Amino acid sequence: MKQNLIGLSIESSCDETSVAILKNGREVLSNVIATQIDIHKKYGGVVPEIASRNHVENITYVVEEALQKANVTLNDVDFIAVTYGPGLVGALLVGLSTAKAIAYATKKPLVGVHHIEGHIAANYISHPELKPPYLALVVSGGHSHLVHVKDYTKFEVLGKTRDDAVGEAFDKVSRVMGLGYPGGPVIDKMAKEGKPSYHLPRTYFDNLDFSFSGIKTAVINLLHKEGDNIRIADLCASFEEAVTEVLLTNTLKAAKELGVDKVALAGGVSANSYLREHLSKMGEENGFAVYYPELILCTDNAAMIGCAGYYNFLVGKVSDWNLNAVPNLKIGE
Ligand code: KG4
Ligand code: ZN
Repeated sequence: MKQNLIGLSIESSCDETSVAILKNGREVLSNVIATQIDIHKKYGGVVPEIASRNHVENITYVVEEALQKANVTLNDVDFIAVTYGPGLVGALLVGLSTAKAIAYATKKPLVGVHHIEGHIAANYISHPELKPPYLALVVSGGHSHLVHVKDYTKFEVLGKTRDDAVGEAFDKVSRVMGLGYPGGPVIDKMAKEGKPSYHLPRTYFDNLDFSFSGIKTAVINLLHKEGDNIRIADLCASFEEAVTEVLLTNTLKAAKELGVDKVALAGGVSANSYLREHLSKMGEENGFAVYYPELILCTDNAAMIGCAGYYNFLVGKVSDWNLNAVPNLKIGE
């Protein structure tokens, strides 16, 4: 095995076209992210067909920029990693076709990466000392999962949402409050100016599953009932408090059941300041270390895919030309 392994990675599962170059899995030489947020804002959410078209327009420029910024050429690259699911099928196919074309033309191995395993791996970049096993709380626009990370490429899902993902709930609630898309960052900001004075219901099951649709519906009902009298900042604070309480109650239960001494946050919602603060506090009180990625690595980016791809590559998890986009890919498959 070469001393230094250089990976080129591609992420295009939703509304970010991103390409990164990593050395030995954890050292980011470049991480170029072309976001389409401004394009989708006016529709109140991601429009899949528009996302695919923009990926097609951007992808070759993003590849070139990532290589240039890292000061490497395709000859220096040892493997091509790419997200193949879960995500929007048309969007995924743009990244996947590009990765296959580069891998075929350069005769380099192709490594398929699970998007959520990528989100988890973002923590390895931000925390060079972090090693499995640990518990991961994955909270993104499409997922809310508690995952036991047994090894770099071995995962067990302990609990997941039965309805809305957390990020999806942030985005929907934001839309009905008239705060725009994406909802997470704006609710995060507004909540700091308010108090959690509205009561919202919390749902628990006898396992580690989550449910957020009750909280979301209660917010919508309150908005209808109170009309202009609603205190938006207070409602944002109440929503964040309710969601965080549900997430952290199950996280603590899982951490105790597993007896882990490390908990990592991952996914777009891990950028949330209230959630980060309260998980850190919970870690201090209960004797586990808490990890979360630096902000730029919380939301979708190719560096996290390159890191997960590196560990797949090391254990020989290399894909063939039949690799296809799998919109509802499960973790650990
Ligand atoms: O991981 P991500 O970039 O895409 C998916 O894989 O889904 O996550 C996007 C989600 C959006 O729902 C967005 O509202 C949410 O992450 N998000 C946040 C924050 N920043 C982004 N949610 C809460 N607080 C934030 N600061
Ligand atoms: Zn994501």
